[in-house]
Amino acid sequence: MKNVKLFFVSVLILSLGLPAVAQPKPWDVPANFKSMKNPVAKSEASNKTGMALYTKNCASCHGKAGLGDGVKARALKTHPGDFAGAAYQNQTDGEHFYKTKFGRGEMPKYEGKLSDEDIWNIVNYMRTFKK
Ligand code: HEC
Repeated sequence: MKNVKLFFVSVLILSLGLPAVAQPKPWDVPANFKSMKNPVAKSEASNKTGMALYTKNCASCHGKAGLGDGVKARALKTHPGDFAGAAYQNQTDGEHFYKTKFGRGEMPKYEGKLSDEDIWNIVNYMRTFKK
């Protein structure tokens, strides 16, 4: 009897601790994108262009430092991810490019809104996010 009570109390405590937003599901990126070579060399100039584009188009959800804490993030059902974390930084440039270009769910697609070169500049800038 005591164990049953303990069980329910732990379930209650555990569920209270769960984050309100769902964690992102695995996102499969086609192999040809995964291994795609970034045609825009990483440089100060690319970071500067990328930063301006990121601030204008992405920071509202992803946050200025890429932590997923932009002003619009609270209204999202899906967590936008943490660009400073290993789960993000361990992906290839091609994966970042694919996800930005085609989006899914609450992540808008930027195909037709940003040129490929602009997306690569943003991909380069997003590499500068570190904890
Ligand atoms: C309206 C809010 C919103 C805006 C604006 C937005 N995103 Fe997102 N983004 C999301 C959400 C939500 C996810 C998580 C989607 C999922 O996992 O289903 C996401 C996911 C991503 C991911 C994958 C992250 C990972 O950990 O794999 C990348 C890359 C990304 N966004 C890049 C961008 C870029 C670059 C821009 C601007 C050009 C941008 N996003 C603008 C909401 C947004």
